[in-house]
Amino acid sequence: MSTAAFPEGFIWGVSTSAFQIEGATSADGRGQSIWDTFSADRADACDHYHRYREDVRLMKDLGMAAYRFSVSWPRVFPDGSGKLHAAGLDFYDRLLDELLDAGITPYATLYHWDLPQALEDAGGWPSRDTARHFADYAAAVADRLGDRVDTWFTVNEPWVAAFLGYGSGIHAPGRESAADAFRAAHHLLLAHGLGAQALRAAGAARVGGVLNISPVMTPGQVSDAGRALSAEDAEAVARIDVLANRQFLEPMLRGAYPPELLPIIERTAGLGHVHDGDLELISQPMDLLGVNYYTPLVVQAQPSEPADPAYPGSEGVLFCTVPTAVTAMGWPIVPGCLTHLLRRLTAEYPDTELMITENGADFVDVVTGGGIHDVERISFIEEHLRAVRAAVQDGAKVRGFLVWTLLDNLEWADGYRRKFGLVHVDFATQRRRLKDSALWYRDVIKRNGLTETRPKRPTLETVAARSGVSRATVSRVVNGEASVSPEVRESVLRAVRELGYVPNAAARSLVTRRTNTIALVLSVPRQGGDQLTAAVVQYVTSLLEGAGKQITLMLADTADSHRRIVQHVQAGLVDGVVLLPPDRGDTLAERLSRTGVPIVLLGKPAIASMMPYVDVDNAGGAKAATEHLLARGRRHIGMICGPMDLVAVQDRLDGHRTAMRQANRQPMLALADLTRSSGAAATEQLLSDDPALDAVFAATDQLAIGALQAAREAGRRVPEDLAIAGFDDIDAASATTPGLTTIRIPVADQALAVARLLLSRLEGRHTESVVLPTRLVVRDST
Ligand code: FCB
Repeated sequence: MSTAAFPEGFIWGVSTSAFQIEGATSADGRGQSIWDTFSADRADACDHYHRYREDVRLMKDLGMAAYRFSVSWPRVFPDGSGKLHAAGLDFYDRLLDELLDAGITPYATLYHWDLPQALEDAGGWPSRDTARHFADYAAAVADRLGDRVDTWFTVNEPWVAAFLGYGSGIHAPGRESAADAFRAAHHLLLAHGLGAQALRAAGAARVGGVLNISPVMTPGQVSDAGRALSAEDAEAVARIDVLANRQFLEPMLRGAYPPELLPIIERTAGLGHVHDGDLELISQPMDLLGVNYYTPLVVQAQPSEPADPAYPGSEGVLFCTVPTAVTAMGWPIVPGCLTHLLRRLTAEYPDTELMITENGADFVDVVTGGGIHDVERISFIEEHLRAVRAAVQDGAKVRGFLVWTLLDNLEWADGYRRKFGLVHVDFATQRRRLKDSALWYRDVIKRNGLTETRPKRPTLETVAARSGVSRATVSRVVNGEASVSPEVRESVLRAVRELGYVPNAAARSLVTRRTNTIALVLSVPRQGGDQLTAAVVQYVTSLLEGAGKQITLMLADTADSHRRIVQHVQAGLVDGVVLLPPDRGDTLAERLSRTGVPIVLLGKPAIASMMPYVDVDNAGGAKAATEHLLARGRRHIGMICGPMDLVAVQDRLDGHRTAMRQANRQPMLALADLTRSSGAAATEQLLSDDPALDAVFAATDQLAIGALQAAREAGRRVPEDLAIAGFDDIDAASATTPGLTTIRIPVADQALAVARLLLSRLEGRHTESVVLPTRLVVRDST
């Protein structure tokens, strides 16, 4: 078998961390860490503290060349600082000897998130002292273990420690303060610098840091990396890249914060914590950058979005779920990103040597008498190794690859239910069992590479042959059909387990006859709706394509086209339909729903039905706009309605009426179509109906822009004489003089919701309609 080889001397191994595997949290004078306090789970973990010999032996048998572990700070300084507890280092002494005996090179991480609780009580990472104590700790550990550690890593994933620990609070110590998160980030960087200095002073041979680097992209780029971005999306991507990646890369490797970041830090936390000389300290020469990669960050511009607490400064950016294959954690599987990431690091920091210090996946493992056939984990790691190899062939200086992780362990806030190990651990007995992935990895190490051709996976035929039934029967079982006897079902499932078979599209479609094609049916884009329609088509297409669906775009503009569309769907040529917008009271939606093919509507249908739809809260938005006008002291408020056969217009009128009724005011209405000129005409009419008119609420921004024109022509000053509010927040609304107060509707969210709803329906899950909130945007026109 030919080999997709890696460079000679490529380092293969695994990574672990102290809190996640050691257990023995009160043994031999260990102090408390923030994770002992925070974690809901008993921290016995894998009892590696006592079973390290067995674990080293496992690694040796698997042929590992390298082992990255972390030292537990509270074992060495139970109070975080002050007096060294030398006995706390005995364990690592023994571990290192065992590793070296086994021919395994030790890579030691000093900080993998288990801060001594005493230091948290004294201020934690937002306090500068913590970085100084870290340097003392680094010196003490290097002094004792330095003769046997090949490479030291200072801090693991400072982004996670700072922003999940102090920003969103989903990690220990669970604080929720954006200012603290930025301060913690800076002090973790400082700890890296001071720690590196201390390690060198103690004679350390090689020093590095470990970052989680997440490529940032839009949903569209997940399936098409080269896709061009709108200016707004490009800005969103760049900003999140700064917050997640460059915030750490640039200080460490270039001695400066990215210029775009400083104003964000300053307005959130001030800059008082960044002292002169800090950045020189942080940018100590580094021998190796450890890169942890699991999944990309997928974002797009979404003006109404508040900042995510894990990314303070991310206002106006939506973090998207993409309908791609995911691990059990829900992390999208995108191996190609790792190639891009390594190419990028090589281009931007050409002198820095790299090592993949973590990569791996959580999947649900099925333990059978015959073993643990974790084919998904194998294929995850294999695909990522191919991605690494592609980058290496392009010249990326990647020195090795460490799988996360050796053992199923205590996965932080998620506890024991996450399974990242190559080795299964039964936590009741502490019994270790190799999964297939461990044996597969052993072979990769042995041949220093992958097989050129991907291993043959068991197919539908193999399962059918093993269980002695037809392919269609296997497909029925896989699809959960009831028409299969319990005995046959049991024997098929046994074969599935034993062979480690993962059902693919063929198995799923044999009985269900899936086409993997979705019809996106557009009614003629009406005036004013184009912007929304265009955006929705773009998002829905890229999201569904990302989920492996093909899109057929169909235009519903004539009775004849309606007939053809219904025939097409009836003929079983598509799996599902997205219909937008179904405003007019036509019958297309009804006729399509009778075909039995799952259908999702964008916009509430005119005739109530069982079809799920996605819409925005039109009534709520109109009510908010009207209440805003009332709150500004306006009493003579007219509303310009659009065509009353549009459901959205009916809902906006309802909302307006509700607000007026609650304020004991009589509504005054003028009808219009959807053009600016009709908005102007309606305004003239309202002015002549009630010369005391002091406000206009228009059902759309286009109509409101017409109202602005009419007010100007009638010599009314906006907003002094006449306040004007619109709806939709189209681009033009912020460009009028004065800027238009309006109601913002979440465009991308609607598209996302439509795509998700359809995907759930295709999977046969129960679905409910989604109504998304709108938001009042106040500008000068009111
Ligand atoms: C990384 C951590 C590691 C483990 C994996 C799944 O962020 O460094 O400890 O939790 O994720």
